[in-house]
Amino acid sequence: MGMTNDKQLHWGIVGPGRIAEKVVEDFRLVPGAIPVAVASRSADRAADFARRHGLQRSYGSYAEIVADPDVDVLYIATPHPQHHAIALAGLRAGKALLIEKSFTATVPGAEQIIDLARSTGTFVMEAMWTRFQPAIVELRRLIDDGAIGQVRQVQADLGVDRPFDPADRLFDPAQGGGALLDLGVYVVSFAQYLLGNPTTVTATGSLAPTGVDLEVGLLLGYDDGRAATLLGSLRNPTPGQARIFGTGGWIDVLPRFHHPSTFVLHRNGSEPETVSREPLGGGYAHELIEVTDRVLAGATESEIMPLADTLAVQRILNGASEQLGVRHTEDATVQV
Ligand SMILES: NC(=O)c1ccc[n+]([C@@H]2O[C@H](COP(=O)([O-])OP(=O)(O)OC[C@H]3O[C@@H](n4cnc5c(N)ncnc54)[C@H](OP(=O)(O)O)[C@@H]3O)[C@@H](O)[C@H]2O)c1
Repeated sequence: MGMTNDKQLHWGIVGPGRIAEKVVEDFRLVPGAIPVAVASRSADRAADFARRHGLQRSYGSYAEIVADPDVDVLYIATPHPQHHAIALAGLRAGKALLIEKSFTATVPGAEQIIDLARSTGTFVMEAMWTRFQPAIVELRRLIDDGAIGQVRQVQADLGVDRPFDPADRLFDPAQGGGALLDLGVYVVSFAQYLLGNPTTVTATGSLAPTGVDLEVGLLLGYDDGRAATLLGSLRNPTPGQARIFGTGGWIDVLPRFHHPSTFVLHRNGSEPETVSREPLGGGYAHELIEVTDRVLAGATESEIMPLADTLAVQRILNGASEQLGVRHTEDATVQV
């Protein structure tokens, strides 16, 4: 990698859409990380993004940023089925990767990226920013410390009232639309973080006219009786709350649980304790810090968002999709 001597990591942004607009703002809060380049399918869009955010270089194709030897890490912010081809090309060029959630559109797609990352010894992480929020880090510390005893059950919901538009990424099958891959990924990753990998996944829900999942309810089951009940919807708003129930109490993660600043710890027999931890910037700085620190330290994975967890989450999401009759594919037409 073209890493500079002063321990700085040069980042390239792929797909200057809505989330890239937000994430790029948080680089200023990340020591050692410099966003240097952006790539779009359109040279004009890339140039406009680079000018507005002060990036040195812009490219009108994804192939050009992959070939840029002065880019160490790619942040892939295209829609889910367009992650796979860019990720594989990036790994072949020796780039570390931060890949937006959902990691891929399919389980085989995720497996191919993970296999290539491991065989080349290259760092890859899913951009599941929830796990790096200061409130979630503290919540996890308290749980590991036994604050609510043994975790037995998890509830989480994430719903938005999104007007139906067949061209919108969220409703377009070609862009990996549907509630599961966009919102379900948060509730599933949260449950997986606290309970591990389920032995059964049961999904119910409804489909949009384009055939993608509109509403989804999930029951994750564990052999020893633990369970998670999870909701996601593009049809109706929900508070975006999570609850973790243990043998010694429970925790309410106040909305929205996927980037919270406050949770309430209820220890059995004690008054509730309110714990607040504000995120930095837009809340994306923490995942950028994780990648920057880990890559500079020579690691190939994050211990907080390891690839085994990403793959487990992807299996749950795609298994649930198939129960609803939704079959995703990776985009084989991406030019990279
Ligand atoms: N972490 C979060 O909070 C968060 C929030 C929202 C979304 N996301 C994730 O980030 C990814 C992008 O979401 P977004 O809302 O930013 O999407 P978006 O606004 O539609 O932007 C996606 C960008 O991807 C590029 N692209 C490449 N191939 C494309 C294709 N075939 N169709 C459409 N666009 C294509 C486009 O840029 P060019 O054409 O200019 O290259 C487009 O601007 C998704 O995986 C999503 O789940 C994460």
